[in-house]
Amino acid sequence: MGKYFVTTPIFYPNARPHLGNVYPTVLADVLARYHRLMGDETYFLTGTDENTQKMVDAALKTGARPKDFLDETVEHFKKTFDTLEISYDQFIRTTDQQLHWPGAIKMWNALVASGDIYKKEYEGLYCVGHEAFITEKDLVDGKCPDHGTAPEHLAEENYFFKLSKYGEHIKQAIQSGVFQIKPEERKNEILSLIDSGLEDVSFSRPKRDDWPPELGVPVPNDPSQVMYVWCDALVNYASAVGYGRDDALFEAWWPADVHVLGKDILRFHAALWPAMLISAGVPLPKTLLVHGLILSGGKKMSKSLGNVIDPVSLMDEYGVDAVRYYLTRHISPFNDGDMTVESFKDAYNGSLANGLGNLVARIMKLAEDNLTAPIMRPEPAVFPQELTETIEAFECNRAMDYIWTRIQQLDARITGEEPFKLVKTDLEAGKKLISELAVELYWIARFLNPFMPATSERIKQTILANKKPESLFKRID
Ligand code: MSP
Repeated sequence: MGKYFVTTPIFYPNARPHLGNVYPTVLADVLARYHRLMGDETYFLTGTDENTQKMVDAALKTGARPKDFLDETVEHFKKTFDTLEISYDQFIRTTDQQLHWPGAIKMWNALVASGDIYKKEYEGLYCVGHEAFITEKDLVDGKCPDHGTAPEHLAEENYFFKLSKYGEHIKQAIQSGVFQIKPEERKNEILSLIDSGLEDVSFSRPKRDDWPPELGVPVPNDPSQVMYVWCDALVNYASAVGYGRDDALFEAWWPADVHVLGKDILRFHAALWPAMLISAGVPLPKTLLVHGLILSGGKKMSKSLGNVIDPVSLMDEYGVDAVRYYLTRHISPFNDGDMTVESFKDAYNGSLANGLGNLVARIMKLAEDNLTAPIMRPEPAVFPQELTETIEAFECNRAMDYIWTRIQQLDARITGEEPFKLVKTDLEAGKKLISELAVELYWIARFLNPFMPATSERIKQTILANKKPESLFKRID
């Protein structure tokens, strides 16, 4: 038994969450649920990143007060996560002045104390989509290729953070394994970025007139500036567990065991964040799990590109666990994966309606008709090594493949051993076989728990009640 602290990135709530946003959240939820099952004291953090220009722009477009707009979109995130049965322990909002701002301010002061913050005149191109400065050579036809928008030209006096000082230190932490980056490809990407030299980062913005006072953490001793959004956003991982306001709580949970994040925000997490922590004298998180992107029509599914799939309508039509199933089995955690409503539907009908759902119906019909009492729950509830190893290596899709192999083997056993015929020729042998099938089905339900918690529970209850259930996954044509 140990402690396990897992986080998702905090999301920009400038629109409702799309399937790409819920992906890291489902991955983190699988890890949290698995570690709770293994007896680890687990803390699962998610939340929203609110001190941004995007938020102000999105609110102004609707004509709403930015804070009201935020409160509403944040509610959608929470509702979507709740519907998806995301078992988070805390939902942090970076506009929370009690929980988050003291941590951001403590971090800033620590960076100042290390001599790593300085002021300078700066001129550059700011991409609101990235919430970061980009360079002329990143542009295609004058626009950011990821967001399809022209950057703003800014000439400002900002505070800068001496990121350039920390390349070697971060490299050592990565190479010694203190700070792990999974998969290997992402680790190498960051090592070569460090080798090409890290540049200092603009770490504050002049407070703009259209920003309401609830947005933007003020720079200590300089109310004309607010912290750069990535500076305050990264601190959420620490502020949520007490950094800057509750030392005992922070001691208990920090360092984070895993930050789950997409490869599009790798640099912020693998260079900027560790540099800030080293400068502030705070231990590094143990692991970054860097997942690929869900593509739609070959392009990153994103609000700015307008090619998103709405998780709520998928859940309404196919059920919550169908969405959790697809994301954990059919999207590789380490590579990009294309997804369409068609591919989702095929997987649903093939593996859930005809696969798992049909198997449960077959076995429980036999059990209800032939067994006089429910089977005994198999004990002890241990997971096989094939499953623990793959989940602990973050390979959720391989863990799900393993479970589906067991499902197919069980199906094949029914076809091969024909229990429905056996009960007619040798009732006792037939009952014994059906009990064994139900026991194996119980194991499968148990293994599904971190991935599809409601389905897992339903199958277990069905078996313990010895009753054929209503259809688990209706075929949808
Ligand atoms: N607010 C920042 C993160 C700050 S963390 C200190 C941010 N927000 S985001 O809303 O744009 O993205 C949040 C997460 O969703 C990121 O990990 C990103 O990789 C993930 N995804 C957004 N679109 C995605 C896909 N199409 N596919 C998979 N994940 C993607 O970045």
